[in-house]
Amino acid sequence: MNRKKIVAGNWKMNTNFNEALELLNFIQINSTTSPQVEKILFPPFAFIKSIKDALSITNNIKIGAQNCSEFNSGAYTGEVSADMLKSISCDYVLVGHSERRRYFNETSEQFILKIEQALLADLKIIFCFGENLEHRKSNFHFKIVKTQLNEVLSRLPKDKINQLVLAYEPVWAIGTGETASPVQAQEMHLYIRTVIAQMFSEELAQNISILYGGSCNSQNAKELFDCPDVDGGLIGGASLIGPEFCKIINSF
Ligand code: 13P
Repeated sequence: MNRKKIVAGNWKMNTNFNEALELLNFIQINSTTSPQVEKILFPPFAFIKSIKDALSITNNIKIGAQNCSEFNSGAYTGEVSADMLKSISCDYVLVGHSERRRYFNETSEQFILKIEQALLADLKIIFCFGENLEHRKSNFHFKIVKTQLNEVLSRLPKDKINQLVLAYEPVWAIGTGETASPVQAQEMHLYIRTVIAQMFSEELAQNISILYGGSCNSQNAKELFDCPDVDGGLIGGASLIGPEFCKIINSF
């Protein structure tokens, strides 16, 4: 088994330029540099290049974008291509986040195109998915997650799936202060691994990193990360508070 442990901070549409640099500096000084744990920051587009330039080489923090265009280039006002991100040395891109699904009506068809663009540009992808509260209450959460995975992953080249990291983010836990319990997280992550094994291979299922996201903080990170099938976290709100985010990283 060769799974990467990851703690990623999704800053969403937060911070101004100075706040972003201050946050980066705090994290660089105060987070551990264990080679076993990959740290990734997802700042707003506007600050990616400056954040990348301000990285100290010793800290080994990777940088990602929160989105990319489904198109390669051309007359698509306001869009940012995967190629552009690669040209400023971005390492990762998020695709499928529930906020993109909910507020921008993005669909599985678009996620496939975005992932294809990211693969062409040689970016790594964190593909996000997860059920909402109604699905969970009506016991449809496994079915929904399987559908979300199937709709996208089955349409990608099989030999590229190892470029993906998966992020299970139950919508009812995002920004609500309500976290999945370690039992709920472990149960779903194990299920996701079973789905990947059925779709591809047991080897891929064992080697793909699956992150948990949704109200993860310094109080609950350790018990979530201790679950055998949880390989780290995609952190929203708590990643904007330097000491809190560093405690989460250091809890691995
Ligand atoms: P919160 O940690 O604020 O719940 O957000 C999780 C998330 O959406 C990360 O992508």
